[in-house]
Amino acid sequence: MTRKFAGFALAPLLAFLMVLGLCACGQSESTEPLKAEHDLNAMVDSIRIENDFKPELGIVLGSGLHPLADEVEIVQEIPYEDIEGFPRSTVEGHAGRYILGYLEGVPVIIMDGRIHYYEGYSMEEVVTPDRIMAKLGAETVIMTNAVGSMRKDFKPGDLVCINDHIASFVPNPLIGQNDEDLGDRFVNMAESYDKGLRKIAHKAAGQVGVDLKDGVFLQVTGPTFETPAEAELYASLGADTVGMSTAVETIALRHMGVKVLGINCVTNYCPNVVDDGTSHEAVQENADKAAGRMVKLVKRIVRDLGER
Ligand code: HPA
Repeated sequence: MTRKFAGFALAPLLAFLMVLGLCACGQSESTEPLKAEHDLNAMVDSIRIENDFKPELGIVLGSGLHPLADEVEIVQEIPYEDIEGFPRSTVEGHAGRYILGYLEGVPVIIMDGRIHYYEGYSMEEVVTPDRIMAKLGAETVIMTNAVGSMRKDFKPGDLVCINDHIASFVPNPLIGQNDEDLGDRFVNMAESYDKGLRKIAHKAAGQVGVDLKDGVFLQVTGPTFETPAEAELYASLGADTVGMSTAVETIALRHMGVKVLGINCVTNYCPNVVDDGTSHEAVQENADKAAGRMVKLVKRIVRDLGER
């Protein structure tokens, strides 16, 4: 009886000691610094920029804007594969490069080749090329991408200036230990797409005779296109266009204090409007058709930015 009693008395003490032990283990794990998988500074240090070239403006070439590369007075090209530690696809190989040079007299860095989440990369990897552009000097970035439209009056071929985004359906690229060298832990996203830049874009559109709409963009992971019900849901949330990139890159750039302008190229309708048989090929084809207007508009925006 006394023995049994002693056992009961010891049990809470043992449990207490075990909990203490577990807490101690948990604590030592959480105080261990979380190392970024990809060392951004090492990547940037491995890039040798020739002739002290210092880019001021970054441009991300989405589908349809690739011909813009031909307009650049090229100073240097840096294939992604030449950058030490640059993310490699776990699923499929990818080609990509930075182009450094002058566009409309402005020193630019062009990201010719994106990393998509649907390829199997982590979100940290997805935003790495954007962060490198900012580290190399870009204080402003123009994002472009191909999107589906969830409203009748945004037709394939239309260009849309992103006035806000919804990134609630994709993992946030800032999850994990915050790198204080890049920016603050908590980022204000009340004006993700800079008002002043949007004004310049609309003015430039008027000057070159391009109809530029305004809309809310929503990012999904892909690689599937939307079901009618998904598109209906996104539209009901206030989104006008949907695509598989851009918003997370904007988040990473805003984290670093970079100003962002985003331009969508509508390549298809989503099936809540009409089932137009969207396919990757159709997206490419329609992006190519809009390329002339897209290039004209971006060149004019860059020229106006250079004159500021
Ligand atoms: N959905 C998602 N991403 C896209 C689409 C679309 O309809 N078109 C081009 N990128």
